Amino acid sequence: MAARLALAAVGPRCSVAVRQLATQRGLWLRLGQCAAAASAAGAVRPARRGFSSSTVAQAAAAATATLSRDEVITSHPYNNVTDSIFQKIGVNLHQQPSHPLGILKGAIYDYFDAQHPGTFTKFDGLAPVVAAKANFDEILIPADHVSRSPNDTYYVDPDTVLRCHTSAHQAEILRQGVRAFLVTGDVYRRDSIDATHYPVFHQMEGVRVFNPDEWQAAGMEPTQFAEAELKRTLEGLAQHLFGAVEMRWVDAYFPFTDPSYELEIFFNGEWLEVLGCGVMQQPILDKNLGPGQKAWAFGLGLERLAMVLFDIPDIRLFWTADQRFLKQFKAGDLTTKFKSYSKYPPCYKDVAFWISDAFTENNLCEIVRSVAGDLAEEVKLIDNFTHPKTGRTSNCYRIAYRSMDRSLTDEEINALQEEVRSTIADKLKVELR
Ligand code: DAH
Repeated sequence: MAARLALAAVGPRCSVAVRQLATQRGLWLRLGQCAAAASAAGAVRPARRGFSSSTVAQAAAAATATLSRDEVITSHPYNNVTDSIFQKIGVNLHQQPSHPLGILKGAIYDYFDAQHPGTFTKFDGLAPVVAAKANFDEILIPADHVSRSPNDTYYVDPDTVLRCHTSAHQAEILRQGVRAFLVTGDVYRRDSIDATHYPVFHQMEGVRVFNPDEWQAAGMEPTQFAEAELKRTLEGLAQHLFGAVEMRWVDAYFPFTDPSYELEIFFNGEWLEVLGCGVMQQPILDKNLGPGQKAWAFGLGLERLAMVLFDIPDIRLFWTADQRFLKQFKAGDLTTKFKSYSKYPPCYKDVAFWISDAFTENNLCEIVRSVAGDLAEEVKLIDNFTHPKTGRTSNCYRIAYRSMDRSLTDEEINALQEEVRSTIADKLKVELR
């Protein structure tokens, strides 16, 4: 496995636990004030239109199943996809009806189907390899936005990425003339390692377009109308998932919406961010669907919500094949509270080195994931000092190794740590201490 995703500004109102969970959107808040949009070329994979959701899933599952290793791991100097990441492509946990992610997806579908029967087209198997243009430019992400950095995003080549959010499909689906849709899929971000961060996670994107008749009938301005519809719809969704909870709207920034909001609910004694959303930026609609329309959009992280709903303490559990985990969940049942079947002790190992300018924590975590896979539970900077005479900076990281499913032996951990150390020395151009 590789690294996790960037965690940025979740307001100080959130507890640490909530802040750690707030992964799926931090990226966008970090650089609200970037320059104008940029361009990049690259072929957009053809999207599918007008299928029922199950047909879409099958068609796209076939598409991902045929992705070969050399389609995502190339010799291009920009390529930063690892084997452990490649192995996640096509797994599609959200397509398993009795997996917590599948259960949550199903519950959200149920809500939209009940509210607006037959209105929302569902896509849940679009291939995660997309044009950089679709992932960034077409939804107005500025040229200098941090999310474009190869330190944060997996690039196949400079024009092709593993989508870092399901918003990557907004423009192509609008171009097909689909006016209301839900897109569920695996998304990929390089990041550090802890219980709530994993380089692959799942999101659901929702979009609904309105025409002038609709806001005129309501006697409202288009933006005001879309905003009211958005808030009504998403408050209903939060209640459908969490019951009668207290909610609040928090102003936010996303490049693709204006105004932008986050919805928070008061759950288990703290404010929890549920999703990001807003009124879609007009150029995205004008360019891809045609002029004179208005739309809302939202995006939510499935792991984040499933961890809260089902009491799942560690994000690695979503990937386990252990029946003691999987057996606890039932398709259609949102009420399960996960019971830990075991807690094996963690083992901590430190590694210290003199860093160079090129060093990043994400690169370190990528190595730890590549060597230790899901046995790496956390990678934490515990010491950072600059030598007064030489000016060199030393970092010490503590790696927690722990299996979700079994005890690890000393020999096994020592061997992993040795391999981590030698790979660090080899690949990161740092000097071990
Ligand atoms: N793409 C955003 C993220 O990954 C989530 C998001 C926010 C999606 C607002 C939207 C939206 O469609 O309107 O952080």
